[in-house]
Formats: sequence, structure tokens, C-alpha cells
Amino acid sequence: MAKKLFIKTYGCQMNVYDSARMADVLQPLGYSPANSPEDADMVILNTCHIREKAAEKVYSELGRLRRLKDARESAGHGRMVIAVAGCVAQAEGEEIIARAPFVDMVFGPQTYHRLPEMVAQASRAGGAVLNVEFPVEAKFDHLPDHEGPGATSAFLSIQEGCDRFCTFCVVPYTRGAEFSRDGAAIEAEARKLVAAGTREITLLGQNVNAWHGVGTDGGDWRLGRLIRHLAEIDGLERIRYTTSHPRDMDDELIEAHGAVNKLMPYLHLPVQSGSDRILAAMNRQHTADDYLRIIDKLRRARPDLALSSDFIVGFPGETDKDFAATLRLINEVGFAGAYSFKYSARPGTPAAAMGTQVPESVRDERLAGLQQLLGEQETAFHRTKLGAEFPVLFEKPGRKPGQIAGRSPWMQAVVVEAQEALIGRIAICRIVELAAHSLHGVVAALDGERGDAPGTERICA
Ligand code: 5AD
Ligand code: SF4
Repeated sequence: MAKKLFIKTYGCQMNVYDSARMADVLQPLGYSPANSPEDADMVILNTCHIREKAAEKVYSELGRLRRLKDARESAGHGRMVIAVAGCVAQAEGEEIIARAPFVDMVFGPQTYHRLPEMVAQASRAGGAVLNVEFPVEAKFDHLPDHEGPGATSAFLSIQEGCDRFCTFCVVPYTRGAEFSRDGAAIEAEARKLVAAGTREITLLGQNVNAWHGVGTDGGDWRLGRLIRHLAEIDGLERIRYTTSHPRDMDDELIEAHGAVNKLMPYLHLPVQSGSDRILAAMNRQHTADDYLRIIDKLRRARPDLALSSDFIVGFPGETDKDFAATLRLINEVGFAGAYSFKYSARPGTPAAAMGTQVPESVRDERLAGLQQLLGEQETAFHRTKLGAEFPVLFEKPGRKPGQIAGRSPWMQAVVVEAQEALIGRIAICRIVELAAHSLHGVVAALDGERGDAPGTERICA
């Protein structure tokens, strides 16, 4: 029977990927996408637990859904199944069922391949179905293929979980131990995506450069080797990967940035802090200087590499001097973009028990200072592209009629006036104007007309 499914996704790109795969698992059961929760027979909240108030947000969203469910069911439109998935489900489990007994299913990130069983159980059971284990069988071996057209730019999950145990982070607890998929399974999924129209693949993992697996030649591969292999797929134009840890940035991967044209010159490499004392307390297992040396090597391999990072301000014990060291590191690197967060204590993590929590007002002040500097660097980076020509991969219609939108090799949003027929293709564009959150350009040549290598730039100003 035809049924409608609405998935609301919070948090990282891994959750975006997981939500798409949940939809794939439910499709054979007759579920197709709903436009809003109001039209849905099943609503899944795919939750994130990385920072503060995550659980509270979920409970207030559940309150809204309960009213919808009651209204729908009393109007005789049939049952609405409500599910909580993802990292809040993993961390809170029973607590969700106790506080929101109208929820039908609660399941963690490692069990959604078992959704068909859970749905069947939920339709029989009086109470809620809870599934927050870390099963022995690998989820990825039990997921169906995605059917239908592929997005121009798609995610491919190659690694999950994390063994690094940064003292502020819940990921090792909610996503579990590090797990890497085999090279052959990754290649097969990449080829299917490309056959369905995908031109850019972002390899995903909580600590993606820790990926290590059996290669297609039976050898023991790391990420650099995998990227070289995937780059041989005809029709795949661009490769990216996220998120990485500095300690896992090995020489083979760094060299791939110089050798593989399809690997885009943009890297998100979180450093979190520029103070060695704080980095040690965070258990990052590297110093500020180690990070700078890695950046140096990367830039020698790929001189136009744009860098982005994550920062946490106000980690327990952070002094003005530590914060100044973070600003110094930012000035030394020069980032094209970055995400910055106020430290928030996550229950169960070692940092939450550290006695020297930084007052909220100090955290606020430091965050504002950091964001000011990072904002200036971002604008300066965009400015370097004014008058430049480079390939843009178009992904979707723009906000205004007649416009289409895509991405530069450095992840910048680019908007041009051009026909929608260019969506899914690469064109060489010249940047004529900078807007607040995008570059505006004109099409200078079509894909292949000039033979520019992917991700290369010509300055025509
Ligand atoms: N408090 C603040 N920021 C955090 N992050 C992870 N855990 C916390 C926390 N407890 C940030 C880190 C990480 C990003 C995904 O979220 O910067 O790289
Ligand atoms: Fe969390 Fe990333 Fe540290 Fe792993 S490496 S514990 S995912 S911050």
C-alpha cells in the first residue's frame, strides 16, 4: 500500500546520508517521500547529539508531532508512526520512551538496516520498539541499492565511528568503534551513483582519513590509495572527503592531493585549538606545530588548497593565553572557511567532569572574536577568486528564475545566469561579482571545450 514518509535530519552529513539510506530501506515497504509531517504516515527524527540541547530540541519536536498524530488519527486518516533515530536515540534510548510514550520506534545509527522488522514489530506491538545495540553484522551489507536518479553531488559513507576519543566528543559512544567498509563495496556504490548521474562524490566518515580496508587487489589500503582508485571511474569528475583528523593525514593521502586531479583542492581538517596545553587536555594527540607542518606539506603538494577547520572555544581550563594561541594559529594558516563552537559539556565525556569550566560570558566573548577573524579570512579568500575562471559543477536551479547554482573546486557556491540544461555538468565560469554567501559568474566555456583539468584555475583579470 502507498504510504508517505517524512524524515527530519539534524546534524552532520553522515546523518544526511543515513536519512537517504533509511528512505531506501523503507521504499520496498511502500513508503515514498512526503512533503511535510502533516502528510506523513511515518515521521522519523534523525537526531544529532554532538552539542548542547540536542535532546531538549528532540523532545519539543516530539511534542509538536504528538499533536499532529492525535489530530490525524482522530480525523480518521489512519495511524502516524513516529520514530526517533540517530545519536540522541542511541544515547537516550529508554529515556525517550519513558518521556514520550507515543513514540513507536527508537533506534540508533547502527540498526536502521533492520527497519523492516522494526516497522512490522511496531505495527503489532502495544509499546515502542527499542533498538540501540551495536549489531555484529555490518549494516552496510544489508542495505538495498538506491533506486532512481542520482544527485549531481552525492555522499558515500566509507567509514563510521571513531577510536580517537577526544575528551569533549560523544561520537565514540554514539557511533561506536571505528569501522571501515571494503574497497570493493565502496567502488560498487560509487559506480552505481555515477551510472545514475552523479558527478561528484564526497566520501564520508566521522574520521574518514582513518579509513583502512581491503583494497580491490586484496591489499591493505588507506584513503590515499582508495581515492586514486576511485578517480579511475569514468564519468566521476570530482572527489572530496570529510571529516578528517590531523593524526591520520598520512603521506600517501597528502600526495594524492598533488597527484589526483579529480580530488578537489579543499580540505576540512579540524584543529579545535591552537594551544598545546588545550590540545593535550582534549586528547587530540598532536600539537599546534604538528598541524602547521601537515598544512605545509599539503600546500607543497597542492598550492591552491583551501582549508577549513573546526574550533572549540572555552574548553575547560582555556585561558586568555590559550585562546591567543588559537588566534595565532588561525593567522598563520589563513582559512577559507571554518566552523566554530562554544564548548558544551556532553554527559559521559571526560571533559564534562573537568573542574575548570569556563564561564559562559567568556565563551561568548571568545567565540565572537574568533568568528570575526575567521569571517575576515573567508571574505579575503572569496576576493581572490574575483576575475578568475575555473570549472563549476552545476547542481540545481538558483533562487531567482534563469539562474543556476553550483560549486567551485573550493566549495564556494557559484551562481550564474544560464540554462537548466547545464545542471549536472561542469562549465568554466568567470567570476564577476562577490555576494554575501556566493560568487556570481558568467559561463566562459563548456566542459571539455578548453581541456582544462578538473579543479584548475585560470586568472583572466
Ligand atoms: N562542544 C562544542 N563543540 C563540539 N564539537 C564536538 N563536540 C563538541 C562539544 N562537546 C565540535 C568539534 C567537532 C565538530 C563536529 O563539533 O569542533 O569537530
Ligand atoms: Fe569526535 Fe572527531 Fe575526536 Fe573522533 S576525532 S572523538 S569524531 S572529534
